[in-house]
Amino acid sequence: MTTPRSTTCRFEPDPDGVDPAQVPRVPLAGGATLPAVGMGTFGSDRYGPEDVAAAVADGLRVGYRLIDCAEVYGNEAQVGAVLGDALAGGLARDELFVVSKVWNDHHAPADVAAAARRSLTNLRLDHLDAYLVHWPFPNHHGPGADVAERDPHARPYVHEAFMETWAAMERLVDEGLVRHLGTSNMTIPKLRGVLADARIAPAVNEMELHPTFQQGELFQFCLDHDVRPLGYSPLGSPSRPERDRTEADLADADLPEVRRIAERRGVHPAVVCLLWAVARGQVPIPFSVKRPQYLSSLQAVVSDPLTPEEQDSLRGAERNNRLIKGPVFLWPGAGSWLDLWDVDGTIPGWDGYGSPTAR
Ligand SMILES: NC(=O)c1ccc[n+]([C@@H]2O[C@H](COP(=O)([O-])OP(=O)(O)OC[C@H]3O[C@@H](n4cnc5c(N)ncnc54)[C@H](OP(=O)(O)O)[C@@H]3O)[C@@H](O)[C@H]2O)c1
Repeated sequence: MTTPRSTTCRFEPDPDGVDPAQVPRVPLAGGATLPAVGMGTFGSDRYGPEDVAAAVADGLRVGYRLIDCAEVYGNEAQVGAVLGDALAGGLARDELFVVSKVWNDHHAPADVAAAARRSLTNLRLDHLDAYLVHWPFPNHHGPGADVAERDPHARPYVHEAFMETWAAMERLVDEGLVRHLGTSNMTIPKLRGVLADARIAPAVNEMELHPTFQQGELFQFCLDHDVRPLGYSPLGSPSRPERDRTEADLADADLPEVRRIAERRGVHPAVVCLLWAVARGQVPIPFSVKRPQYLSSLQAVVSDPLTPEEQDSLRGAERNNRLIKGPVFLWPGAGSWLDLWDVDGTIPGWDGYGSPTAR
């Protein structure tokens, strides 16, 4: 009698990678910790699902344990196949920290639950370590949207509606499907309201963070309220979609403050951006499908930290250089993308757009 051959391959760490036990851990409210750096999975409309999944598969082998996913990235099934294989091959589930996000067209409470279950099925997991509301507006755009594209049903932020979405998120925690909740693309006024009214507070807030866009006030607000900032576009998103590019945008890698340190250390400017992020206490989630890049990003967090002088000099790199401005999420009648970010400290309401009940 022959023994059936197992089709499951053992999960084999790559000896050229980084031992995950050496990667510093960052605490979350409630006592859990997560690795100091993660791997992004948004292909920026230029890298397909198979490329991203292959990078995640190898990323796990070289030592990444935090993976930032979202349904709208259009690759959770492919990334899930990779996660499923790694777990079946012996990678311990509690070593992994997997994030996903509910997209803007699923803010209705019943849709939140359905979206979370779909992400779980696609990612081949029985729970998510964190589930985030991707944007605070239920304003949809499809993958590959053009900068001029608008959802005709788009509207400004409505706190009561957001809290209904949030209550549905909280029920996912009650059901054991999600360990931590999170927000993304928030502002201080919006977060203040959520923190006041939530039964389960956000443990993380995913926000754009790189040396030329440090979001000092929001960043400190998060730390003061035990909300861990996850830093997206931590390298200044050099391959971001066309809709997220304007002529005024700066490249972090070209900034004198960043370049000087990179040259002195003999590293790529991306490494300096990551050292800055880790020193500050945010968790960066760089994206790459290129092995030398994602390996060097992981190695960065176990290399010599920035000196206090280098940190001081990078504090001076702030240029208010928001790259992911989000114009595709604007509503009819809105002024500019600045309306999404509450820049004067207030949340633009329905004034001028008609009341919610009239719509
Ligand atoms: N919550 C949100 O709304 C939101 C928004 C945006 C992003 N995110 C998350 O954040 C992740 C990262 O953001 P992102 O892709 O916009 O920006 P990013 O990580 O700042 O930039 C990624 C690009 O940087 C280059 N790169 C990566 N590692 C490098 C290295 N070690 N050395 C040199 N160059 C390197 C690659 O460019 P090339 O490909 O040209 O080589 C790569 O495509 C996303 O994948 C996603 O998970 C979330």
